[in-house]
Amino acid sequence: MKRIAAIACLLIITGYAYSQSPAEKKIRKSVDSLLKLMTLDEKIGQMNQYNGPWAATGPLTNDGNLLSQIKEGKVGSMLNVTGVKRTRELQEVALQSRLKIPLLFGQDIIHGYRTIFPIPLGEAASWNLAAMEASARVAATEASASGIHWTFAPMVDIARDPRWGRVMEGAGEDPYLGSLIAKARVNGFQGKGLGDTSALMACAKHFAAYGAAVGGRDYNSVDMSLRQLHETYLPPFKAAAEAGAATFMNSFNDINGIPATGNKYIQRDILKGQWKFKGFVVSDWGSIGEMINHGYSKNNYEAAFQAANAGSDMDMESRSYIQNLSRLVKEGKVKMSVIDDAVGRILRKKFEMGLFADPYKFSNENREKAQWNNAEHLAVSRDIARKSIVLLKNEHHILPVSKQAGTIALIGPFAKAQGDNRGFWSYEWPDDSLRMVSLWQGVQKKVSAETKLLYAKGCDFMDSSRAGFAEAVEVAKAAYFVILSVGEGPNMSGEAKSRSSIQLPGVQEELIKAVVATGKPVAVLISAGRPLVFNWTADHAPAIVYTWWLGTEAGNAIADVLFGDYNPSGKLPMSFPVTEGQIPIYYNHYNTGRPAQNDSDKFYRSAYTDLSIYPKYPFGYGLSYADFEYSDIRLSAKSFKPGQTITAAVTVTNKGNTGGTETVQLYIRDLTGSVVRPVKELKGFQQVYIKGGETKEVSFTISANDLRFYNDQLKYIYEPGDFKVFIGTSSRDVKEAGFELR
Ligand code: BGC
Repeated sequence: MKRIAAIACLLIITGYAYSQSPAEKKIRKSVDSLLKLMTLDEKIGQMNQYNGPWAATGPLTNDGNLLSQIKEGKVGSMLNVTGVKRTRELQEVALQSRLKIPLLFGQDIIHGYRTIFPIPLGEAASWNLAAMEASARVAATEASASGIHWTFAPMVDIARDPRWGRVMEGAGEDPYLGSLIAKARVNGFQGKGLGDTSALMACAKHFAAYGAAVGGRDYNSVDMSLRQLHETYLPPFKAAAEAGAATFMNSFNDINGIPATGNKYIQRDILKGQWKFKGFVVSDWGSIGEMINHGYSKNNYEAAFQAANAGSDMDMESRSYIQNLSRLVKEGKVKMSVIDDAVGRILRKKFEMGLFADPYKFSNENREKAQWNNAEHLAVSRDIARKSIVLLKNEHHILPVSKQAGTIALIGPFAKAQGDNRGFWSYEWPDDSLRMVSLWQGVQKKVSAETKLLYAKGCDFMDSSRAGFAEAVEVAKAAYFVILSVGEGPNMSGEAKSRSSIQLPGVQEELIKAVVATGKPVAVLISAGRPLVFNWTADHAPAIVYTWWLGTEAGNAIADVLFGDYNPSGKLPMSFPVTEGQIPIYYNHYNTGRPAQNDSDKFYRSAYTDLSIYPKYPFGYGLSYADFEYSDIRLSAKSFKPGQTITAAVTVTNKGNTGGTETVQLYIRDLTGSVVRPVKELKGFQQVYIKGGETKEVSFTISANDLRFYNDQLKYIYEPGDFKVFIGTSSRDVKEAGFELR
């Protein structure tokens, strides 16, 4: 009972203490009045979310009496119900319930709805916050026109293990970049704010630390210090909460022995307490019931008790709440104040969305139709798709290719692929074959009428057969230039898609060897949902372009880059390992007591004797057709005090002829601290367009706030001392200087 009393107290002090603008006052009053009218069962109904009968994104329990439950007010929200027609039908049923409380419709709009955008990890490679916000805005506009109120995005899990299939959904390994992206995506989804017809409620997930699953195995345990949790894994969530994310989703994993779903520390103490989060928390699919498998709950009754008291407000698909909360309240194990807090949070969002005023606000057939073929949206998709592409290698400047190249061979399983460009967590539409732009189509539109295109598939993603190689080699020999497009099939990265081997799958790398052996200039394109390992290719292919899964406009975007209409500007948001044995490998690690300085300095060092200490491609890496040269760093002062700032500036010269965008990156290292500090931490970046032959100055202002970290008491502080500042083109290729915080 002590535990329950403490929770009730906490709610009064923090969680439900809304600020008091007139609009908020009005909503609060409406919520309070409605709560007074509701029976306990109706309240619990609001905390219950079911999957729709048409599609599922998890293990399904079909109970057959869905409609009668909605009519009885036993369902507050549905997921996976798409389209104006279906959402309207179910909303009509909800409005037959005693209090006529509208349903909330949620769906995984992860990287586009009708217009598909690059996978989130790909978009993160653009480092372009405005473009990411624009892509989320389009996704929200399209989905909200289809009756959807709520997306289960952005996924803001920091991930340092590319074996984990869900890296494709996030923003990579860095908490600073991840936080800015979280904010941009929340702003994009929520647009002008809840209540606007094109706003989609955002959901920051998976709270928390799901990305640190041991060994990269999906759903696995997470064990880490609280300091690490606060320093690395929580910042993007905090940024999402600060940006006003309407909801959070908790996660499948346990954190230090307590499942996130039943974890009071993260949901009540941190999220609703310290961060004063006003939205509601939905469980992950079935994660309340799964606490039984974790060995944390004896049965569903105990799971409901633990989850509700820990701050999970809505039960996605476990049926734990609907079946047990009433008894738990009657027995005094879950206080009515806990229920009222959860239901109040949910109702508040329904009011903010304007659903009580017009439950069919998002169910307008004309608006839905208008989004069906929206050229503006395709332009946004093409724009971010080309910004997401990362040029990894370009020996002898073989790229860009001339549009009058004569004969070009397109080889590989992605060369003519359409749907495969969509990537995991996206929707298939009946007219996909007309909309999804293949590489072949993109190139065809780009080259001159005289240019001849040849094609050979060579092999499929997972093939063990080399039967198609001979044709591929023939085609390559007949061409002036070869574009070889390989990668992961669309279901190889995503939820439940962890892999122990992240090598380029099947015999694709052998196909690359055979084609490169022709001696023709070859650009290898790699489409994938995660960093892959492809050492032979990296060492021997003259040009490599990482193309992720780029969505609807993939072919056009890639052709823009290959033929020089867009100068590639993407930078990796995750380190690419040399091999799986290097994982986890990330740039912002600690120095250790025995750091290796280089690859010939590995004995009695924190290194593998049989592997490089470096990743294949570091965080922040990406080339351009331009040739950027950095000056040394100029500091405005050698030292400063808290309250003051200094600037660190470089000049960047484009020594080439082609104009291009460079992402100038600022890293800082705190040389000595009361706890050890990473060897580098990203603290800023700027994207600058520099014409051929031009020089631009780029400067960063540094204040003591940029030097904060969590100390061993979890206080977010800075400490006086010596720092290094690095500015450069990637986390590895930097200029360096030093300053002191006095
Ligand atoms: C995933 C969530 C997703 C939910 C609903 C779960 O399996 O972990 O990310 O939002 O299903 O589809």
